[in-house]
Parts: sequence; structure tokens; C-alpha cells
Amino acid sequence: MAKLLLQKSGPLHGEVSISGSKNAVLPILAATVLCSEPCELFDVPGLKDVDIMCRLIESLGAKVERNREENSVAIDPSGITGHVAPEELVKMMRASMVVMGPLLARMGKAVIPLPGGCAIGDRPIELHLKGFKALGAEIDVSKEGVVTGECEKLRGANIYLDFPSVGATENIVMAASLAEGTTVLENAAQEPEIVDLCNFLNKMGARIKGAGTDTIKIEGVEKLHSAKHVVIPDRIEAGTYMLAAAITRGVVLIRNMLPDHVKPIIAKLRECGAEIYQTDEGVIVKADEGTLRSTDIKTLPYPGFPTDLQSPFMALLTTVEGQSAVIETVFENRYMHVKELKKMGADISVKDRCAIIRGGAKLKGAKVAATDLRAGAAVVLAGLVAEGVTEVSQIYHIERGYEDFVEKMAGLGAIIKRVED
Ligand code: UD1
Repeated sequence: MAKLLLQKSGPLHGEVSISGSKNAVLPILAATVLCSEPCELFDVPGLKDVDIMCRLIESLGAKVERNREENSVAIDPSGITGHVAPEELVKMMRASMVVMGPLLARMGKAVIPLPGGCAIGDRPIELHLKGFKALGAEIDVSKEGVVTGECEKLRGANIYLDFPSVGATENIVMAASLAEGTTVLENAAQEPEIVDLCNFLNKMGARIKGAGTDTIKIEGVEKLHSAKHVVIPDRIEAGTYMLAAAITRGVVLIRNMLPDHVKPIIAKLRECGAEIYQTDEGVIVKADEGTLRSTDIKTLPYPGFPTDLQSPFMALLTTVEGQSAVIETVFENRYMHVKELKKMGADISVKDRCAIIRGGAKLKGAKVAATDLRAGAAVVLAGLVAEGVTEVSQIYHIERGYEDFVEKMAGLGAIIKRVED
């Protein structure tokens, strides 16, 4: 098994360019299942999760050609005849669930073994299923955990989500795109990745309005056609490098990021005392030793503070003076990084959904695990400032979501290398 070795690296400096968004490209790849004509995607990050989604749509009968050098993918979905997602792929990635909406809409049936992926909380799917049922599908979940959906023709409906789930919003919007009549989805998720998906669907001929607000209106169309699309930059990757600059008290220029997508990170970093400038070339993050102070964060659906940056932000808070509180409201079990950070000397206590961080502890290198994707980012950030060597195992989680992670970090002066055990 591969692992990462890190040493205290000093202030990071230089520039880094952000890749296309993982969480945007996964549903966009799934959306190609809705049409029978070739589609082309650009700025597709080279990630394990993207490999899995490509294999998944290939397994259904699509032809997928990836150009790694140009970060593009050409998909010909004309040969899709399958409706069963292979269990081994679904187990590896929970986001596989987003093929269910497209399969129901195109094939009239879908079989998905229950999702795996990052083990953060129960991560149920009842909101996805509620949406499919409202659109007229019959849904069955077997004792073994296989979800089966069937329908003659989906019909538009009014759907209210009890929680603005990202995946459920994506699945319902995709299914409704080919439904008969109009669907109004209320309390929809508003994440930029939803907007990117809807932009792609509209380029394919879908009629979707309101993406990025809490009410999305989808007028079903007969069929979708060929489209080309450039994926938006990854706001979580951008936030991670902003935090890497801050935790090391460095100065980093981050290119190809959209500052509007990371407003809470910018605001909270400024509250901590970091300086952030927007220039024509990108965003500069600068932090000086001795000037950073504590702050509190509470994760929320977009446009609130993103849960995916809670753990790396907590790593930063362990290094500043004063006490901070972190409240995780999106996932009930997203504190697995706390145990790992404590192995490195962090002073954190957790009660229910609230973590109290007593900052200023001297972090020291330790053997830690990337217990999930973003927990992995958190321990790497801590490792950049810890005395001695930090050894990070289970790095396949990090490789699921950060393109060229070691190269990009090393390019900023991080002392980091990937070794095979
Ligand atoms: C997506 C992101 C993930 C991010 C999360 C929240 C992808 C591939 N992943 O995950 O990185 O952390 O949004 O911003 O885009 N829930 C239910 N019932 C459901 C669906 C969800 O109770 O049917 C709950 C979940 O258990 C969780 C919360 O809603 O507590 C948020 O989940 P959701 O927004 O669906 O996240 P994902 O789409 O899985």
C-alpha cells in the first residue's frame, strides 16, 4: 500500500493551478447516459473517482476515450443497453448513485447495489428514491441492499426535498430532464456543481431554470443531444491550497479558481488574520507567523461553509492561538480526522456535532491515516507544520479527489513524497 511521508516544510510559496471539479464532473459524466450522441468534456481531473465513473458508464455500453494529457474525455453513449451498475464499482464510490436518475429516464429501469465510498455517517438515499417515486418510478430496495427502479415513462411532479441533498438534487434534475411535463424541485441544493451540471444539461437541450437557487424548474424534453462542456474549477481543491498556504504561514498564488465559490473560506481565513487578494492572475493567500487567531465555523449546505473543508480548516485551527469551535451540521460522523490530529498532538475534544479546538499546540509527526478524502487533506496539512516525520496511510482516499496532489504540494515547497510500502 502506498503512503505519504511528510516533513515540516516551512512557509509554502509559489503558485498552483486548480483542476476541474471532481464533484461537478461525476454527475456530468453520468448525465451523458441521458443522450445517444457523442459528448466531449474538458478540464476533467485525473482522479480515481473519475476513472470509476468512466468505467461505470462503459459497463453500461458507452464508449469512453480519455486524453490524459489534455484532460479531456470523449463519450459516445449511443451503445448504452445496460441498466445494472456493477457492484464492485458502486462499492468503491458512493457517487455512482447518480447514474440511477439517467438510467431510469433513458432505459426505464435501473439496478444499483447500495452505495459505498467515504464512510462519513449513514449517507442514506431516501431523498433520491422519494424523487424517483414522485416522478412515477417503482422503487424496491432488497434485503441485500440492491436498489431497483422501473418506470414506463417518468412524469413531471412537484417535489420538496426535506434536506437540500446534492446527490438527490442531481439525480432528480437528470431524471426530470426527460420526463413528460414539468418538475418543480423545492429546497434543492444550490452548490456550484449543480449549476455546472444544469448548464451541461441545457447545452444538451434540456430546459432547466433556477439552478443555483432553492427552486429548480425542469420542463421535460423528448431527447437530449450532443454537447461539449468545460468543467468548473474544483472549489474544494482551491480551498485546500488556501489552507495549506495559511497553515504554513506562506504566500501562495492560486490560479484557475473562482473566488465566488469559496466566499466562506475567504471570510473565515480573513477572520483568522490571513490576507487574501484577488488579482488578474488568481487569488493570493498570505499568512504570517504570530498574526493568526482563532475563529468558529459551522458547516452548512451551499452557500454556507462547505463540510468538505471542515477537516482541513480544523487542522489550521490547531495551529493558531486561542480556542475555536467547529460545528458539523451536514454529516453526523465527519470527525474521523480528530483522532488522527490528536495523534499529532492537537488538543481537540468532540461532543456530539461540536468540536472544541484549543489552538497553539506544537504538532509533532506521527503515523496517521487518511480515514476519508478530506480527513486525508487535514492530516497532510498538519504534517506540513509538525516537527519530525508524518506518515500518512490509506492515501487512496486522497487520490480519489486531489489531482497531482504530491506534485502540486511539492511545487509549493512542501517536503512530501509518495512511497510504496
Ligand atoms: C456531495 C459531495 C460531497 C459533499 C456533500 C455535501 C459529491 C460526489 N459529493 O455528497 O463531497 O460532502 O455533497 O456537500 O458531489 N442525506 C439524506 N438522505 C438522502 C441524501 C442525503 O439524509 O437521500 C443526508 C446525508 O446523509 C448527509 C446530507 O444529507 O448527511 C448531505 O448529503 P448530500 O448532500 O446528499 O451529499 P452527497 O451528494 O452524498
